[in-house]
Amino acid sequence: MHALITGASSGLGEAMARHFAAAGWSLTLVARRKATLDALANEFQTPTHVIGADLSNLDRAVEVIAESQQALGPIDALINNAGVQYVEPTAGISHERSELLFKVNLLAPMRLIHEVLPTMLERRSGTIVNISSMAGITPTPGMCHYNASKAGLAAASESLRVELADSGVHILTVYPGPVTTPMETAARDSFTPHWAVRNVPTGTPEGMAKLVLSGILKKTPRIFYPRVYGMARHTRVLSQWVTDTFAPPLKDE
Ligand SMILES: NC(=O)c1ccc[n+]([C@@H]2O[C@H](COP(=O)([O-])OP(=O)(O)OC[C@H]3O[C@@H](n4cnc5c(N)ncnc54)[C@H](OP(=O)(O)O)[C@@H]3O)[C@@H](O)[C@H]2O)c1
Repeated sequence: MHALITGASSGLGEAMARHFAAAGWSLTLVARRKATLDALANEFQTPTHVIGADLSNLDRAVEVIAESQQALGPIDALINNAGVQYVEPTAGISHERSELLFKVNLLAPMRLIHEVLPTMLERRSGTIVNISSMAGITPTPGMCHYNASKAGLAAASESLRVELADSGVHILTVYPGPVTTPMETAARDSFTPHWAVRNVPTGTPEGMAKLVLSGILKKTPRIFYPRVYGMARHTRVLSQWVTDTFAPPLKDE
């Protein structure tokens, strides 16, 4: 089995790469920090192909699929994981920065899906995993562009799952809550210290990685992690009220 994981140089992507390699998968690892990916690939016993790519360059994102399939054959699982997050006052974010975020978090995943889908449909097999966020379900103040990008990815992912239900291609949408990674640590540090920030249920990258692999194998439609956040899907109005009421202010507001 061959998985392409974007954003494999850190956090969730790195943990998924380790977990999938341990389970015997061949891997294509994609991120900008190629040297970090090379070091990770050297640890693995399974065939691993490394691609240094800036996914905000959408033409480069398209090339990644062909390069990966040429190196290791058809992709069985595309994992759209690379992401950027700004936790800061929205008014100070330039158009350039906001558009970069949408390219990495939403437009590059859509391009990668578009490129990989024909082969998967032809083979009537394959999984596309889209790493959205709880921010796509209950948007958090101070992360305006991020919330929108993750809601967009979740909407695309959920609708594609139903569209492709009889095609043999499985779509898995992942909604992580806080999971300890460099992105999550930076986000937490951007809010004023507050009991709500200190006490929210938080997961580990390894725990997330295990659920994603098992979700692929069991063809699960969606994953919430830590699992308690799954409630928000059924209690959306209440969950949004809790977020609006208890989200602490940003440090630099
Ligand atoms: N951790 C959480 O609490 C949490 C919660 C909800 C959702 N998520 C989502 O989970 C995913 C992984 O996040 P993480 O927490 O593991 O963050 P992370 O540790 O900051 O990792 C982000 C990854 O994305 C890659 N990346 C960023 N910009 C890129 C670009 N322009 N081109 C290619 N790759 C790029 C980074 O690689 P390079 O810097 O080497 O390019 C890195 O490997 C993201 O989509 C994030 O939104 C995380």
